[in-house]
Amino acid sequence: MSAHSFSFSPALRRRYGGGLKRVEARLVDITAEPRGILGVACQATLKAGGKRIRPMLTLLCARTDAALSEGVVRAAVAVEVLHMATLVHDDVLDRADLRRGRPTVVREFGVGQAVSAGNYLLSRAFSELSATGAAAAVEALSAAAVGLSEGEVMQRDQTRRIDLSVAQYELRCERKTADLFAVACRLGAHLSNASRDHEASLAEFGRLLGLAFQVFDDVLDCSGNEQETGKRPGADVRDGTITLPLLLAMEREPGLAELLARDDLSPEDVDAVLSTVASTGAVARARDVAMRYIERARQTLDGCPSPVERELLAEVADQVVARYN
Ligand code: IPE
Ligand code: IPE
Ligand code: MG
Ligand code: MG
Repeated sequence: MSAHSFSFSPALRRRYGGGLKRVEARLVDITAEPRGILGVACQATLKAGGKRIRPMLTLLCARTDAALSEGVVRAAVAVEVLHMATLVHDDVLDRADLRRGRPTVVREFGVGQAVSAGNYLLSRAFSELSATGAAAAVEALSAAAVGLSEGEVMQRDQTRRIDLSVAQYELRCERKTADLFAVACRLGAHLSNASRDHEASLAEFGRLLGLAFQVFDDVLDCSGNEQETGKRPGADVRDGTITLPLLLAMEREPGLAELLARDDLSPEDVDAVLSTVASTGAVARARDVAMRYIERARQTLDGCPSPVERELLAEVADQVVARYN
């Protein structure tokens, strides 16, 4: 399944297709607001696609006994707009030239426009959410955005640190990715007046799913291809971003460390690293780690009061997995 052909299951689409359409319409409006090149850059990001997993989680975690409220839809929009902002900035930091199968904003419009487009999107995420009047929701999203910045800084600090521990790697994934998944779930619950306990367990589901998601993404950087991911494989190796598959591969093949510590890898060197990583079985072992997070995420659903919600959330988890198999 390719990133571009990713779609939710028929059951999810039946139930939430209408909600997602409302989200999409808001995304179109928000990216069309800025005049000139800023608007063009934001619209290019939106038009490139994306799976919309985070807003789907927000919709799904809202109580299903009522039609989707304006507040829940706004929260889903805010989460996706924040995600878009972080991608635009992340591609500057990671020097990425391909995203969602298209040239990145930084590649197409330059660093200045990419920084400005990311700033615009970041600000609009918060104005969208603050219109709900729910201060606690704005605070939760802000905490996730702070975590994201910390995660990106951790990643810079850890560049080419071949002595990185798995625990440090996991903390980075938590800040960089899992926090946003957690808040996507939390906001859906919060804005539909779910109980505190239920909100907390849905946030934990999101956190564990987010951890799995980042590990899978790191696996795909080693073993995926451009058609499937819409991103250039080997980018982490080239940038010296030490990920779980690379850590596991170094355990089996200590000679890799010398290569991963170098900042002048040629495209051929990157390919050589990727085939060595594959030959150590590290890709499969990292995938197993991600599967264990998925398993734990599913377990958090045991206490979920609504069987329908439980089933649909489990379906999203399965679809995250299916994309990587
Ligand atoms: C990419 O997220 C960033 C990571 C956390 C790995 P997605 O894979 O959800 O990106 P889009 O929105 O579908 O492009
Ligand atoms: C996740 O990390 C990016 C953000 C949280 C913004 P990556 O750097 O691995 O994401 P991709 O691979 O560029 O999508
Ligand atoms: Mg990146
Ligand atoms: Mg990645």
